[in-house]
Amino acid sequence: MRPVWVLGLESSCDETAAAVVSTDGDVASDVVHSQVAIHAPYGGVVPEIASRDHLRAMGPVVREALARAGRSLAEIDAIAVTNRPGLIGALLVGVQLAKGLAWAAGKPLVGVDHLVGHLLAPFVRRPSDQNADALGAAAIPPAFPYVAALASGGHTAIYRVDGPLARDVRELGATRDDAAGEAFDKVAKLLGLGYPGGPVIDRLAQRGDPSRVRLVRPMAHRKGFEFSFSGLKTQIAQIVAKAPPRDEQEVADLCAAFQAVATTSLVEKLIAAARAEGVRDVVLTGGVAANRELRARAAEAARDNDLRLTVPPFASCTDNAAMIAYAGAQRFAAGERDALDLGASSVGVLPRRTLRGAGPRSAP
Ligand code: KG4
Ligand code: ZN
Repeated sequence: MRPVWVLGLESSCDETAAAVVSTDGDVASDVVHSQVAIHAPYGGVVPEIASRDHLRAMGPVVREALARAGRSLAEIDAIAVTNRPGLIGALLVGVQLAKGLAWAAGKPLVGVDHLVGHLLAPFVRRPSDQNADALGAAAIPPAFPYVAALASGGHTAIYRVDGPLARDVRELGATRDDAAGEAFDKVAKLLGLGYPGGPVIDRLAQRGDPSRVRLVRPMAHRKGFEFSFSGLKTQIAQIVAKAPPRDEQEVADLCAAFQAVATTSLVEKLIAAARAEGVRDVVLTGGVAANRELRARAAEAARDNDLRLTVPPFASCTDNAAMIAYAGAQRFAAGERDALDLGASSVGVLPRRTLRGAGPRSAP
């Protein structure tokens, strides 16, 4: 049977992206325009600026994705677009263009939940992707059911994934406050390291000694799979306020201590969730999955627990449209369609089990 090719659009946060991907996960093109440099002076994503830049970039990015795939819109089978969750003004840019294209070309439209896209990222195959990364975490697709830790700048949660549709996904626990990536970004800001903070902390932590800084790990003794990262950031803020780091080594020590706690917390909960659910496959995804200490800890813990770990290549971990096109292709293959009145929403489709803002010390 001829594979189905889907054009996917993504504009939920600060990446404008378009990709052409088949139902099998083969990537014909994958274009990402990052707004990171535009938001950097503000130390975080400014929603209004994000919307305006998506408006500027989305048309050319889609054209480029079709050109690189060597396909006209007429040769595309369906159009997928991230319609939730995310910044509403940003989401609307992708959604409106996707609807216009679907209407003009007479193509079916499918809305995609951004988080489902992240969770299916391990199935996306770019011709350039290696089969395994340096740490031995396979970039081969996991088998359903699997347990995935999704850690990005906007979301951090653990899910059980039984299949490729939103109804097959169950949240096992999420952060009660900040996302893991948000914590990296805020700690970097506190230390004057710029934005985004993850890559800088990752680099500096390699030279730091985590034992020189005492940090309490939030939710460490809590059963269950919920996280809290804001208290960790507050501990760093208090240390910096009391005794500002005097040189680069002290900054590196703080980075190392913070990173050790943040990554240990993610890995321990991921492994515990996989054991509790009785699955063999575990996945690490989202922008924070680029973190070397996190990957190393996860690889080691997976080995020790006889679990198979998949960490998608970096281009699939950070925001991209290939994962959206793939998730859309799965919906399309299952016969799901959206009408041209498809709306955007800041809230995702996956039911949340974790109460936000409950903090690490309040009830279970
Ligand atoms: O998935 P992503 O590109 O965008 C969101 O959907 O949020 O994730 C971006 C986040 C940022 O918070 C960034 O600091 C973090 O991922 N990040 C990292 C690393 N690279 C990016 N965090 C820790 N270590 C890294 N190497
Ligand atoms: Zn994302």
